[in-house]
Amino acid sequence: MKRLIVASAKTIGGEVAALSSDKSISHRVAIFSLLSDRPSIAANFLRAEDTLRSLSIVERLGAKVGFSGETLRIEPPSAIEEPSDYLECGNAGTAMRLFIGLLSSQSGFFALSGDKYLNNRPMKRVVAPLKEIGASIDGRKEASYAPIAIRGNPNLASFDYESLVSSAQVKSALILAGINANGGIFCEPELSRDHTERMLKAMGADIHVQNGKIAIAKKTAPLKPLNLRVPCDPSSGFFFAVAAAITPRSDLLLKNVTLNPTRIEAYKVLRDMGAKVEFIEKENDFEPIGDIRVRYGELNAIEINKNVSWLIDELPAMAIAFAFARGVSRVTNAAELRVKESDRIKSVVGNLIKCGVLAKELPDGFEIAGQERVGGAIVDSFGDHRVAMSFAVAALRADGEIIVNDSECVATSFPNFLEIYRSLGGAIEEQTVEN
Ligand code: S3P
Repeated sequence: MKRLIVASAKTIGGEVAALSSDKSISHRVAIFSLLSDRPSIAANFLRAEDTLRSLSIVERLGAKVGFSGETLRIEPPSAIEEPSDYLECGNAGTAMRLFIGLLSSQSGFFALSGDKYLNNRPMKRVVAPLKEIGASIDGRKEASYAPIAIRGNPNLASFDYESLVSSAQVKSALILAGINANGGIFCEPELSRDHTERMLKAMGADIHVQNGKIAIAKKTAPLKPLNLRVPCDPSSGFFFAVAAAITPRSDLLLKNVTLNPTRIEAYKVLRDMGAKVEFIEKENDFEPIGDIRVRYGELNAIEINKNVSWLIDELPAMAIAFAFARGVSRVTNAAELRVKESDRIKSVVGNLIKCGVLAKELPDGFEIAGQERVGGAIVDSFGDHRVAMSFAVAALRADGEIIVNDSECVATSFPNFLEIYRSLGGAIEEQTVEN
C-alpha cells in the first residue's frame, strides 16, 4: 500500500503551468473520436489511469492510437470492431457509462467491467433509459451493476427522456446512443457539465439546446474529427485553490484551465467565502480557457444547496475549506456524493472527525464547523483520489502530520499531484508500506 505523509506549511504559492489536463474532456476525446472517419488529434491529453482506460478501450474497438511527444492521434476504424475480451474500465465511471451508451447502439457484443469500486457504482441510471428504447443490456443485479454485457442494436428507438438526476454521464450516454441510432430529446433537473454538447457541436453533430432540452439527431454521415488542445482540469486545480485559500499569505496562479461555467462554480463559492479569486479568460474556442488566481483570505461559513452538479467533484476539497471557515457550513441537495468513487459524505466526514473537526453527515450532504487548525491524524482515501488529495491539503494547517492511507488512487486523475504540491512549497512524501 502507498501512503502520503504531509506536514503543515506557513504559506504556499507560485504558478502552476502544467496542471493535469481535463479528465472529462480527455475521456470524450478518446470516445468521440470513434464517431468520425478521420483521425482526431489532441495535444495535452490526460495520461492518467482513468483516461488511459478509455483510450485503450477505443484501441480494442479497432482504433489506431499513438502519441508523438505531447500529441495524441487516434485513427478510428471504419466500423467499430467486436472485441475478443471484456473491456476494462478500471476506476473510471465516465468511461463505463459513456461506453454503455455508445456501444448499446453499435452492432456487436460488448462486455464491460471495472475495479471493485466501479463495479459497485450504480449503472441503472444509464441502463434503464437505454433499455426503454430497446437496448439489450444485462449485468449484475438485473443490470444495476457491472459487469455489464451489451448486445448492440443500431436501431434503438428515439427517446424523450427526463432524467431525475443531473448527471453529465447519463446525459452523454443517452446522446451517444441517440447519435448512432434514432436521435432523441434529453432533459435534466439542472444543467450538468456540458462538454459533450460543446464537443459534438464542434464535430458537426446536429445537436441543439433550448430551454434546458437537448435535441440530438441521428448522424447521417461520420462527424468531423476533433483537433484540439485539452485545457487543464479545474477540478484538479481546486485542491491547490483550497490550499491557497486556507494558508495565510498564499498566492497561486493556475494556468490554462477550462473556465467553462459548469466547471468553476466551486471557485466562485470559495470567493464568496472570502478568498480572493480572479478568472482571466485568454481564449474561447468551444470552451473558454484561461488562468485562475487564488489568494488567501479569511474564510466565512457558507450554505450550498443549488447548482450542485457544477461543483460536485470539488465538494471533498470544499469540505477542507469549510473546516477552516468561521462558523458552520452546510451542503445539501448533494446525495450524488454517496455514489461517487467512494461514499464521499461518509469518507470526508469520517476523516474530518479523525482530524478533530466537528463534522456531521446529512442524508444529502454534510455540516462542518470551522476552526483555526485541525489535528494531525491517520486518515483513509477509501480508494477515492479526491478524498486522498483533499486530506493532503488539510495537512497544510494541521498540528502534526496527516497520513493518508491507500493513496495509489491519486494516479487515476492526477499523476503529477505530488510534484506540483512540492513546487508550491508543501511538504509531502509518499511511502510504500506493507498492508
Ligand atoms: C463526469 C461527470 C460527473 C463527474 C465525473 C465526471 C463526466 O459525474 O462527477 O467526475 O466527465 O461526465 P456525473 O455525471 O455522474 O454527475
